[in-house]
Amino acid sequence: MFEVRVPMTSANVACGFDTLGIAFQEYSIFDFELSDRLEFVNFEEEFCNEDNLVYIAFKKALNFLNKTIKGVKISLKKQAPIARGLGSSSTCVVAGIYGAYLLTGSEINKNDILKIATEIEGHPDNVAPAIFGNLCASCLVDDEAITVQYDVDDRFNFMALIPNFETKTADARKALPKELPLKDAIFSLSRLGIVLRAFENYDISILRKVLADKIHEPYRKKLIYEYDEVRNICESIESYGFFISGSGSTLINILKNENNVELIKEKLKKLKYDWKVLFVKADKEGTTYEERNV
Ligand code: HSE
Repeated sequence: MFEVRVPMTSANVACGFDTLGIAFQEYSIFDFELSDRLEFVNFEEEFCNEDNLVYIAFKKALNFLNKTIKGVKISLKKQAPIARGLGSSSTCVVAGIYGAYLLTGSEINKNDILKIATEIEGHPDNVAPAIFGNLCASCLVDDEAITVQYDVDDRFNFMALIPNFETKTADARKALPKELPLKDAIFSLSRLGIVLRAFENYDISILRKVLADKIHEPYRKKLIYEYDEVRNICESIESYGFFISGSGSTLINILKNENNVELIKEKLKKLKYDWKVLFVKADKEGTTYEERNV
C-alpha cells in the first residue's frame, strides 16, 4: 500500500494570473492499494464511482504507462478544502497519477506526471506546484506544460482565510473582461519578475509595494463576500501581501510570524461569514509518498 501526500496550492499569487502557483504545507492524503475490484473508502457517496477524479487520473496514467491492473482501493485520508481556490482538484489529479505509477512499479517522472495532470486540469498553474512544491511559474507551449521553480524563503508565513462559501472557477472566469486595457496588463506583468525575486530573497518591503494585480483581482473580488472587510482587517494588523487564492473564495495574507494571527482571528469573528484560518508555510517538496504495510 502507498500513501500519497499532495500539497494544496494557491494559483495566480496576485500578478501571476494563470502562470504562478505556490504550494503550502497542508496536504490531501490518499492511500492506494491493489485490489480485485474498484473500491473507494471515506469518499462521499457521490464520488464512489468511475467518475471519481482520483480514479480518472489513475486510469489516464495507466494508459500513459501502457499498464493494466485488475482493481484498486483508493482511500481518502485527508482532503484540502474543496472549491475554495486551494487546488483540491489538483491534489486529486496528482494523487491519482502517483497511485498508478506506484502500484505498477513505474519510476516516478515528475515531468511526465505534469504532462498527464495538465491534460486533465487544462492548465498547469495548480498542478505544477502540487507536484514540484515551492513557487512555480508555468506556461503552455502547444499544449506542453513548461514549469520552473522559485524557492520561497523559509521566513515567509501565509495565512489562508477560508470562508464558508464557494466561488466556482467557471463563474470567476466569466467575471473577467474579454479585453484588458494595455496599462492594466503592463501593471501586472511589470510586477511579476520583481515578485519572484522578493519571494526568493525575503524582500518584504518590496513585496508589500508590488504584490498587486489588475488582470483578474479587480473583477473577482466582487464575487468574494466581505473581501474588503477581510483585507482591511489584515492590513490594519499585519500584511506584507494580500491576494485571492486561485479563483477564490480563499484569500491569502502574508505575515512575518505567528504573533498577530490570534488578533486577526478575533476580528474575523465579528464578520457575517465564517472565516477559518490556516497558518501555513510554503511546501518545498511537492508530492511525496510512503510505502506502508497493509
Ligand atoms: N488560474 C486559474 C484561475 C486557477 O484563476 O482561473 C483556478 O483554477
